[in-house]
Amino acid sequence: MLDVVIMAAGLGTRMKSRMAKVLHAVGGRPLVAHVVRAAAALGADRLVTIVGHQAASVEAAVRHAAEGRGFSEIAFALQSEQLGTGHAVQQAAEHLAGETILVLSGDVPLLESATLRTLVDAHAMEGNAATLLSVRLADPTGYGRIVRSGSRDFERIVEHRDASEAERAIDEINAGIYAFDREKLVPALGRLSTGNEQGEYYLTDVLGLLVADGERVGVVLHVDAAELAGINTRRELAETEARLKLRTLGRLMDGGVTIVDPLNTYVDDTVEVGSDTIIHPGSMISGATVIGEGCEIGPNVQLVDARIADNVLVRAMSVVEKASIASGAMIGPFARIRPGTELGEDVHVGNFVEVKNSVLGAGAKANHLTYLGDAEVGPRSNIGAGTVTCNYDGKNKHRTTIGAEVYIGSDTMLVAPVTVGDGAKTGAGSVVTKDVPPNTLVVGVPARVIRKLERES
Ligand code: UD1
Ligand code: MG
Repeated sequence: MLDVVIMAAGLGTRMKSRMAKVLHAVGGRPLVAHVVRAAAALGADRLVTIVGHQAASVEAAVRHAAEGRGFSEIAFALQSEQLGTGHAVQQAAEHLAGETILVLSGDVPLLESATLRTLVDAHAMEGNAATLLSVRLADPTGYGRIVRSGSRDFERIVEHRDASEAERAIDEINAGIYAFDREKLVPALGRLSTGNEQGEYYLTDVLGLLVADGERVGVVLHVDAAELAGINTRRELAETEARLKLRTLGRLMDGGVTIVDPLNTYVDDTVEVGSDTIIHPGSMISGATVIGEGCEIGPNVQLVDARIADNVLVRAMSVVEKASIASGAMIGPFARIRPGTELGEDVHVGNFVEVKNSVLGAGAKANHLTYLGDAEVGPRSNIGAGTVTCNYDGKNKHRTTIGAEVYIGSDTMLVAPVTVGDGAKTGAGSVVTKDVPPNTLVVGVPARVIRKLERES
């Protein structure tokens, strides 16, 4: 049994922010959510998060990231005063029951579960009381240093502020990620003292105490220092965003997606894209967006929680949010597809067209300067330039229903609630205030039926 503790009580003073550090986002999600995801992929049992600053918001972010990911329990321990990392873990002790306790910080978003797996496996194989991850840094300033004995065995960690000149020359640092034997960890937490420069209870002192007790403490030296970097400043936040993005784009390219200019393409790590899709520069693709195969996206397109099937074209400067687009559709340039919209196969939505909470049937077209809100448009209908569904009467929203193979003339105003029957036509400039029977032509203000239409096919 493996329990995970995430330390996330600190404010993160160096962020110079009103918002707790772990709530700042990279890749569209809070820092702490990335750590939760890495822990979940490892197959951990309990998840205990230490919260303090903005406890309710941090708790909500952790719950959102952790729910449905297989944890047997999601618990929170409040550390109302931040007296140090040792004190933080002590607050979690009562929630812990696993044999092994993995301790993580909430501010290490690039952490991969494979790295945690290596740590936990080494911990078990070597039969250690504790095992930690270290990395070598060209500039180790600020970090805890790994002090080794003459025989090169781990001896203790000394924090930068408490280190001697000689100790500060050590380039191997503590990454702040540990596996502990619970039965060794919990009693040692109770023995910590605050005899250090910051007057805090240091979790790192537990390791020295265990060594002094004759227990085995192992160190796993990790080569990828960037992966284990904790974020402390806005500069580091931006650097991490760039790294995470390149990692995501790398994954997509390995899967057969063309990214024309990786430095100018922004894709969250939650996004899925099918092979032979091309993403042009300036595009921002986020959230739960899924894109199929053979699509062309951009340049400068924004997709948020969009579901896009195969062979869809989303041209320059278009925005799609919480909407789905079926295969073969062509969107934009300069189109806005808003939440609740479903575009059918081979639909065309052109420039300066806004579609909100509407369903367009297969082959329907709205190519120029149109607003479709709370509307249903049947298959193969054509919406002329300048058409507006007048869906709002100042108090309530109303629906517009347009049948199949309807021809809406340019500049038609459809005053909802209103229905236009299959095969009907409206003349240019019509203001439609009453339902239009199928296969009739209406014109004028207000629109009146002027003739029955022969169906062509
Ligand atoms: C810590 C380690 C240091 C290591 C570094 C790696 C200690 C004493 N030092 O230093 O050896 O090189 O991480 O990044 O552990 N937190 C709480 N409650 C507290 C204090 C901290 O929840 O009372 C949380 C913070 O919110 C943060 C994490 O613990 O998520 C680490 O704390 P931080 O202050 O960043 O520790 P460092 O000084 O970076
Ligand atoms: Mg830190």
